[in-house]
Amino acid sequence: MGGDREAPLETERLLLRPWRVDEAGVMRELWTERDPRVPPHRRIDAEGHPTVAELENHIRDRPSSLLAIERKDAGDVIGYCGLVYSGQGAEGEPELGFELLRRVWRQGYATEASLAVLDRARTDGHERLWATVWDWNAASRRVLEKLGFTETERREVDPVHGTKLFTVIHI
Ligand SMILES: CC(C)(COP(=O)(O)OP(=O)(O)OC[C@H]1O[C@@H](n2cnc3c(N)ncnc32)[C@H](O)[C@@H]1OP(=O)(O)O)[C@@H](O)C(=O)NCCC(=O)NCCS
Repeated sequence: MGGDREAPLETERLLLRPWRVDEAGVMRELWTERDPRVPPHRRIDAEGHPTVAELENHIRDRPSSLLAIERKDAGDVIGYCGLVYSGQGAEGEPELGFELLRRVWRQGYATEASLAVLDRARTDGHERLWATVWDWNAASRRVLEKLGFTETERREVDPVHGTKLFTVIHI
């Protein structure tokens, strides 16, 4: 069970592997592109934080299970996908997360990357994964639907940011 957890995940078009420090610029671009309805702690603040330098430190100091997505043909990093333990699902059960640069949306990359992450989660012995999504986020809801996630009864209403839906998949 498990295999080599450090090995990159590979799909037809993509490699998923840890972020490199010199890719902090891509990470910042993702921050700048976020929808205005995303809560402020996940958006660039009025003083421009996090800066590229701060994100470089973040990559260096806090290796993340959210893996950089590299396109095999172009060799560029277009976003991330992976599992996190955010405490949103049931105890010990991870949450799927993904985010891509706008210029590559609608080419099936989020779905392709997520399927590889689900495969590894299964191999690693997980039986159930969670994903949370804002009700207004039609693209992400569609990706989760395509992957086989279903909505649960659980939802959290935020008067400013929308309703957060809790979805689950048995893998
Ligand atoms: C969600 C996101 C990762 C999707 O990435 P992607 O690579 O474009 O996803 P895919 O191409 O694999 O699939 C997108 C699906 O949503 C559909 N879609 C895209 N925009 C849509 C919209 N505005 N309304 C309805 N459906 C939409 C696409 O048609 C496609 O479905 P289809 O295959 O049935 O045609 C991307 O939009 C993103 O980074 N959004 C911002 C970050 C985010 O929301 N992350 C998830 C937080 S829960």
